[in-house]
Amino acid sequence: MISTNPFFILSQSVPAILMQSFVILMGILILVGTVMDIIHKKNVKYFFQNAKKAKLSAKKELTTSERISVISKTIASDIATTSELGAGKRRLAHVMGMYGTILFWVGSVVMIFFYTSPNAVTPAFWPIIWHVGAALTVLGGGWFWFFLRVDVYSEAQPWYRIIQADLFVLALIASSLFGLIWSYLQSLNLQGRWDDFVFLGLFIIANLVLFGGVYWSKFAHMFYKPGAALQKNLAEADGSRDNLPPEADAPEQFGLGIKREEPKHY
Ligand code: HEM
Repeated sequence: MISTNPFFILSQSVPAILMQSFVILMGILILVGTVMDIIHKKNVKYFFQNAKKAKLSAKKELTTSERISVISKTIASDIATTSELGAGKRRLAHVMGMYGTILFWVGSVVMIFFYTSPNAVTPAFWPIIWHVGAALTVLGGGWFWFFLRVDVYSEAQPWYRIIQADLFVLALIASSLFGLIWSYLQSLNLQGRWDDFVFLGLFIIANLVLFGGVYWSKFAHMFYKPGAALQKNLAEADGSRDNLPPEADAPEQFGLGIKREEPKHY
């Protein structure tokens, strides 16, 4: 199963052009949902206004090499390893889910667009990327969902309490999980039995919810967060600090109380 392209098997009953159109539709849904979100929240407008204002209080003009250094550090640390989440399980779970999703999506696009023609031979690398990506997403996303999300971790809500904010993580886990089950059932060669069609249907629905729900979910954070991290790091380097007061020139002494419990009350 792990080295078989599930979309190639599907292409024997569904035209490849249909699968390719579905992927394009998902891309359009991301774009439309994100633009609607930006218009509704006015976050990008605020972001640029704030950056312009902060620039006025910059203590120094950054040279090109300083800018490149800040940008590279932001990519390597804030974006590639989600350093905002600190050291620990929250960051590890996010990194698993993030890279899992990237592998899963890249694998899907490559296999659907390049390896679904009748005599295509898919190099084992791509199906492996796809299956491993899906498994990592389910593991990282499930870890976050059952144990780490703020409602459960800090607010003592039961894991099965679902609110709109959970739309993104649940649709993400569902699309990978249903994709994996569908691929497994297909690999059993059930001769057109109902099960793999049911899971193909669930896989399609999960994707429609994930990509169609961008406006209502946290999906677009994957675009906003890198921009915000870059702005924050540039503002620190040029001394403008987003118009925040300078750090206190005193030792960080908070008393012993702070060591009694890990901070988790947000
Ligand atoms: C393919 C890319 C990404 C995926 C699939 C992804 C996935 C997720 C998921 C499922 C959540 C949990 C959402 C929830 O609260 O229900 C989350 C939260 C978060 N993500 Fe991402 N993310 C991606 C990219 C990024 C990037 C690039 C950054 C930062 C530069 C980032 C920073 C965060 C932060 C800070 C949280 C809050 C975590 C928490 O509450 O513990 N994410 N992400």
